[in-house]
Amino acid sequence: MLDGKHLTLGIETSCDETAVSVVADGRNVMSNVISSQIAIHTEFGGVVPEIASRKHLESINAVTDKALQDAGVSIDDIDLIGVTYGPGLVGALLIGVAAAKAISFARDIPMVGVNHMHGHIAANYLEHPDLEPPFMAVVVSGGHTNIVNVPAYNKCEKLGETRDDAAGEAFDKVARVIGLGYPGGPKVDKAAKLGNRDAIAFKRVYLEPGSLDFSFSGLKTQALNYLNSERQAGREINVNDVAASFQEAIVEVIADKAVDAAVRYGQKKIVMAGGVASNTRLRELVSEKAAAADIEVLRPSPVLCTDNGAMIASAAYYAYMAGERSGYDLDAVPGLEF
Ligand code: KG4
Ligand code: ZN
Repeated sequence: MLDGKHLTLGIETSCDETAVSVVADGRNVMSNVISSQIAIHTEFGGVVPEIASRKHLESINAVTDKALQDAGVSIDDIDLIGVTYGPGLVGALLIGVAAAKAISFARDIPMVGVNHMHGHIAANYLEHPDLEPPFMAVVVSGGHTNIVNVPAYNKCEKLGETRDDAAGEAFDKVARVIGLGYPGGPKVDKAAKLGNRDAIAFKRVYLEPGSLDFSFSGLKTQALNYLNSERQAGREINVNDVAASFQEAIVEVIADKAVDAAVRYGQKKIVMAGGVASNTRLRELVSEKAAAADIEVLRPSPVLCTDNGAMIASAAYYAYMAGERSGYDLDAVPGLEF
């Protein structure tokens, strides 16, 4: 407790960012330190789990110290520790969970394990001080694509999910196929701005009528088939056009289903979350379609869309206020469901 504020230390190590943050009262970011491993994994064209774990282990103490220092607080001022315990890479998650347990035990600070996906949604509480449930959430990340009804702070009802690849995974795969490299999402986003989104008719996959599920695995094959046929015909490939057309096929389906879900459940707000929520065109299209249905759209700034410790701190704070506590038997759960 510092000046009457409840301080949460949020620890996130589920994938390729070692991230620690101090958040006051679940809403105010006092520090947000993110040590990205992107440069290391770029060499291999994607995240190498073994390397990720090792890097988390090397960085976690320094990142934690810097988060406290940036916030101008000491570990003794911290009231709660929030840590991601799943879903994610098991070795990577274990580093964060072990660090959280060690601090919790040594300093006798309560600890709450956080579902990474709940954290992504909570990023919006940091960005929008007045935001409160109920709302419809669209969580689009490298590992997940979910439509989630959020009736209260500590309740998440999953209404739809991907049946194969996540949206971010599709971005990353197609980026690789068209030679844009890793991480694919931001590169496709940038290239698409220079391309024509109607150039190539990639199929929009809506599944059964009324379904809020997604399927993106066919897009990579479609992109590959297109590239092969163009090459065989001796035509030059316009990477920007491929990026723009492919991106449109993904974001149009997400935007349609998000608005459909909000309308069906009577929600007046759509909250976007996850790395792909920083996609320029997705933001634009969801806003357009939601406005037509008189629905407000909220999303975090890009730095809070991708993995960070602040979102984990916020989710931990609200879980703690609802009575949740984790014991020292807290374990990493790589396949943790929503
Ligand atoms: O949420 P996140 O940081 O990590 C996971 O929990 O997965 O999301 C990472 C994913 C990656 O697949 C990345 O390519 C994608 O988000 N991404 C984007 C953009 N920025 C990040 N996808 C499309 N457009 C972007 N601007
Ligand atoms: Zn994430």
